[in-house]
Amino acid sequence: MSLKIIVAIFLCSLFIVDGAKILAIFHFPSNSHFILGSTLLKALANRGHQVTMLSPFLLNTPIKNYEQIEITGMQQFKEEKIMKQTLELVNVSLVERMSKMTDLVDKINVNFFTSPSVKELLTSNRTFDLVIQSWFGNEAYLAIPHHFGAATIAFSTIGASMLTNSITRNPAPYSYVPNVFGSFSDEMNFIQRVQNTLSSIGFDIVQATYMTTLEENYLQKYFPNAPPIDEMVKNISLVLLNSHYSIESPRPYVPNMIQIGGFHLEEPKALQGDLKTFMDSAKEGVIYFSLGSNIRSSDLPADKLDGIIKCFSKLPTKVLWKFETDNVKNLPPNVNIGKWFPQKDILAHPNTKLFISHGGLLSTTEAVYLGVPIVGIPIFADQESNIEDGVRKGYALKVSFQDLSEETLTNAIHEILKNPRYRDNIKQRSLILRDQPIRPIDNAVYWVEYVLRHNGAHHLKTSAVKLQWYEYLLLDVIAFLLGIVLITSYIIYYIIRLILKGIRKVFKTTGTSKNVSKKKKSKLA
Ligand SMILES: *[C@@H]1O[C@H](CO)[C@@H](O)[C@H](O)[C@H]1NC(C)=O
Repeated sequence: MSLKIIVAIFLCSLFIVDGAKILAIFHFPSNSHFILGSTLLKALANRGHQVTMLSPFLLNTPIKNYEQIEITGMQQFKEEKIMKQTLELVNVSLVERMSKMTDLVDKINVNFFTSPSVKELLTSNRTFDLVIQSWFGNEAYLAIPHHFGAATIAFSTIGASMLTNSITRNPAPYSYVPNVFGSFSDEMNFIQRVQNTLSSIGFDIVQATYMTTLEENYLQKYFPNAPPIDEMVKNISLVLLNSHYSIESPRPYVPNMIQIGGFHLEEPKALQGDLKTFMDSAKEGVIYFSLGSNIRSSDLPADKLDGIIKCFSKLPTKVLWKFETDNVKNLPPNVNIGKWFPQKDILAHPNTKLFISHGGLLSTTEAVYLGVPIVGIPIFADQESNIEDGVRKGYALKVSFQDLSEETLTNAIHEILKNPRYRDNIKQRSLILRDQPIRPIDNAVYWVEYVLRHNGAHHLKTSAVKLQWYEYLLLDVIAFLLGIVLITSYIIYYIIRLILKGIRKVFKTTGTSKNVSKKKKSKLA
C-alpha cells in the first residue's frame, strides 16, 4: 500500500461522521443510472449512514441501512416509451433530438411529481440531512432538499456537461471542451469550433428559457412555496461527476466538481458454467456485443440486423451478443445470444478481443478499466462524444448507425483485431484510470461526508455563482471599457476638430487682414 492510501484511509476514519440520513433521488428510468446511484448508496450504508433510495428500481437483495422507495409508474414508462424512442433518435437533427429529449424528460418529471410514493414521502414528517440528486433536466426536484432543509449534492451520470457546469459556473471554453451531446473530440478544426460554439450557446439559451420555464411551472404546480429555481441551484453544495480524464478529455474543474468515474467498478469475478466453457474454448477469441440497457438489439431495423449477422458469420472468432428475444433468424454457429450477460466478467476474460458497444459511459468505463478495445455504434446522449474521445485516444473505432452494414462493421472489426495499437492504447488508458491516490468509491464517500461535516461545504464554491450572467461573461466590463474608448475617442475627435477650426480661423483672419492691408496699400497707391 502506498503511503498516500494509508494517509487517506487514516484521514477518512479520523473524520468519520455519525450516521447521517441521506436521501438519493435517481428518478430516471434507466438501469445504468440506478447502478451508479445504488453503488454509491451501498458504500454510504456500509459506512453507517441511513440511506433512502427513491428510484424506479429496487435492489434484488436488500442490505442493512438501505431503504428503498419505488417511484411507481416509471418502470412501465421505461419499457413502453424509451426503448422504442431511443432508436428513433438516431437519424434526426440535433434540434429535433433535443426537442424529443425534452419531451421525454417532461413526461418523466410529471410522472415523478404525481407518483403516490413521492407524495407520501413529502407529506411524512421524516427528515434528511443530505439529498443526492441525479441531475438530468430535473432542477425542480430541488424543492425536495429545500423542503427537508437538507444540503444537496448533484450527481451527473454523464460526466460534466452544460447541465452541471451551469450549477458551479465551471469554465468550459468552447474552443476545446466539446458539447457532450455533440460528436466532436477536444481537438476541433475551425468549422467544428464554430459548430461547437453555436450548439453550446444554443443549448444554454434553450436551458435558460424553455427548460427553466418548464421547471418553474412544476414548482408552481407541485411546490408553490419553494424559492425560485436559480436560488436553489446556487445552494447546491457539490457536483459528483461519473467521469475521469483517462476517458474524457482533460479540462478545468472548480473545487466543487468532483470526478469519481470508475467508482462503480468492482473486481471482476470468474465466469461459471456454459459461459465459462464458451469463453475458455474460444481459441480465436471472442467479440462481445451489447447496446446497453436502454437500447435493444432486437429493435434494430431488419437490414442492419441482416448485415450484422452476415458479418459475424464470416468471422473466425466467436461472438457473444446481448439480444433480447429468444430466436434470431439465420444465427451463425459461432454466435451465442443471451438476454443478459455479466459484462464486466466477460470483458475481463483473456479471450475477449473486442467490445462492440453503443458507447454509454458505463460500458466505455468498463472497457477502459479492463483494457478491451471498442467498436462504437453511438446512438444518443453522450455516446457520440464518448466514442469520439476513444477514437482520438486510439482505442476505439466508430461505425455510425446510419452507415452500419456488413461491410463497415467487418472493416472496423478486422482493423482492431489485426492492429495491436488499439489494445495497447486502451491498456495504457486502463493504467491511467487505475492510477489514483484513492479508490474512486472512497473518493465519492469522502466528498459526501465532507459536505455533511462542513454544513454544506459552501466554502468550496467560487464567487462566480454569485454573479449575474452578464457579470460572469464580463459583458458589463466590456461595455464599460468600450464606452470609455468611445467617449475618449469622441473627446479627442472633438478637441482635434476644435483645434483645426481654431487654426483655420487664425489663417482666415490673418488672410483677411493681409487682404485688407493689400487693399489699403492699393488704395494708398
Ligand atoms: C441551502 O442549503 C443548506 C444546507 O447546506 C440548507 O440548510 C438550506 O435550507 C438551503 N437553503 C435553501 C434556500 O434551499
